Amino acid sequence: MSDVLELVDVSVVREGHALIDQVSWSISEGERWVILGPNGAGKTTLLQVASTYLFPSTGTAAILGEKLGSVDVFELRQRIGLAGASMMERLPSDQTVLQVVLTAAYGMTVSWREQYETTDEQRALALLDRLGMAHLTGRKFGTLSEGERKRTLIARALMTDPELLLLDEPAAGLDLGGREDLVRRLGALAQDGFAPAMAMVTHHVEEIAPGFTHVLMIRQGKVLTAGPIDTALTARNLSLCFGLPLTLERRGDRWSAQGLPLG
Ligand SMILES: Nc1ncnc2c1ncn2[C@@H]1O[C@H](COP(=O)(O)OP(=O)(O)OP(=O)(O)O)[C@@H](O)[C@H]1O
Ligand SMILES: [Mg+2]
Repeated sequence: MSDVLELVDVSVVREGHALIDQVSWSISEGERWVILGPNGAGKTTLLQVASTYLFPSTGTAAILGEKLGSVDVFELRQRIGLAGASMMERLPSDQTVLQVVLTAAYGMTVSWREQYETTDEQRALALLDRLGMAHLTGRKFGTLSEGERKRTLIARALMTDPELLLLDEPAAGLDLGGREDLVRRLGALAQDGFAPAMAMVTHHVEEIAPGFTHVLMIRQGKVLTAGPIDTALTARNLSLCFGLPLTLERRGDRWSAQGLPLG
C-alpha cells in the first residue's frame, strides 16, 4: 500500500519540454527514500509535485491519500515538511531561529503574533536541540552559517509533525564536519520509528545516512531505477544515472563512489 505518495505517469511540461517525464513512483509508510540524479534531472521538480507546489501536466499524484487537483492544498501542505533552497529564500532574515521554526506551526513564514502557545515553543526548542541548534535559538536567521541554516530548516520542516518529510540537498554547501554531523542527525531521524516517511535529494552517495531504505535514480526527467537500496544502489545503476563509469563502495552502513581512472 502506497499511502504516503503515489505518482502514476506524472509529467511536468514547460515550454514543450518535460522536466519530469512519465514518472511513476510510490512511497509507503516507514520508507526513507534517497533521490539521486545529475544537475537538471528533475529532482527538485519532483519534490515540488510531492509537496503540492506543482501540479502534474499529465498523470496523477496522490499525496497522503489525497489526489492533487481535488483537494485543498493548503490543508495538505500542513501535513508535509519541506526543507530546500526555495523555502530558505522565503524566510525573513531578521527573525530569530526560534521564530523561524515556530512560525511553521501557524502555516506561515512571517511572525505576526507576539504570543505563541507554550507547548509550541517547547516543541520548537526540542526540535532545535535535536538538530544541534540549542545554543543558537536567539540568533537572527540571516546571520547563520550555511550548515546552521540547513539544520534550522529541517527543525522547521518537522515542526508541524508532518507525515512526509522532503529534503532537497540538505547537505549541499556543508564542510566535511558539517556534513558528517548532519548525516548522523538524519540517520537518527531515519531510524526513528516515529519519524515521518522521508525523501531526500542528494548528489552524493556519501550523504546517504544509515536508515535510508530506498533509492530513486532519475536522469533527464525519467526514472532509471527505484527500489530498496540494497538491490537498486549499484555501481552500474549509478554509472548510468550520472553518465560516467563509477565504482561504488559500501563500508558498514555508509557509501562512497569514485570515477574510474582514465586509460
Ligand atoms: N519553469 C521552467 N521552465 C522551463 N524549464 C524549467 C523550469 N523549471 C525548471 N526547468 C528545467 O527543468 C530541468 C529540471 O530542473 P530541476 O530543478 O528539477 O533539476 P534538479 O534535478 O533539481 O537539478 P539540480 O541538481 O541542479 O538541483 C532543468 O533543466 C531546469 O532548467
Ligand atoms: Mg534541484
